[in-house]
Amino acid sequence: MLLEEIIDMDTEKKSEGEKINSPEFWDLAYSKAKPRFDHGQVLPAVKRYFSQPDIDKSVNILIPGAGNAYEAEFLHQQGYKNVYVVDFAPTPIANFRHRVASFPYERVMKVDFFELADITPDFKHKFDYIIEKAFFCAITPDLRKKYVNTMYHLLKHKGVLFGIFVIEESASDQESYLYPPYTCTFEDYKALFMSQFNIKVLGKKDANCLIKIQKF
Ligand SMILES: C[S@@+](CC[C@H](N)C(=O)[O-])C[C@H]1O[C@@H](n2cnc3c(N)ncnc32)[C@H](O)[C@@H]1O
Repeated sequence: MLLEEIIDMDTEKKSEGEKINSPEFWDLAYSKAKPRFDHGQVLPAVKRYFSQPDIDKSVNILIPGAGNAYEAEFLHQQGYKNVYVVDFAPTPIANFRHRVASFPYERVMKVDFFELADITPDFKHKFDYIIEKAFFCAITPDLRKKYVNTMYHLLKHKGVLFGIFVIEESASDQESYLYPPYTCTFEDYKALFMSQFNIKVLGKKDANCLIKIQKF
């Protein structure tokens, strides 16, 4: 089912943005067949990076907007002890708990990412790594600054947000985007992050960019 069809099925009188930024919208996407955005596999860059033998297995890792969270399953299998999965939609959270039954229950959190810091004050400056995959592009553009500030709040000094960000070649391509994925140009990413983070492109395949964003 297309995201546009899911929107049409929602009869509540909410603005389009409110509908898209809701657990109901995403839950419906997960409950219908296999969602198009769910590739069913671990991001290869995450596999490569966290397979390095010198990485301390006790680092704190957060995966927000995790969906079915294949990366969390991989990290758990690799022996990483402090991995946290966050998504506000019940279906992917239930899928993950069922699929990876040995994963610590309390580290799989059905919460709104933007409320995470308030709900769990001890998460302030806790994380060494935050993994991004198709979460930034799932939120409406008006939440981007909040995304950046929340990441800043959650990451340690020198902590790293890294993963795949979708990049548009030109700003004009974005004008007609009513539904996710909401993408932006590299210049837009730089403008959003550069006052608080160093931002570096590590690789690029088509529109998908592997980006490392490190807190000052
Ligand atoms: C496009 S999916 C990507 C899921 C997963 N990262 C992947 O790559 O398959 C976007 C995910 O973000 C979640 N999400 C969107 N807004 C959220 C929010 N404010 N808090 C927590 N999760 C959110 C949705 O429920 C959905 O699982």
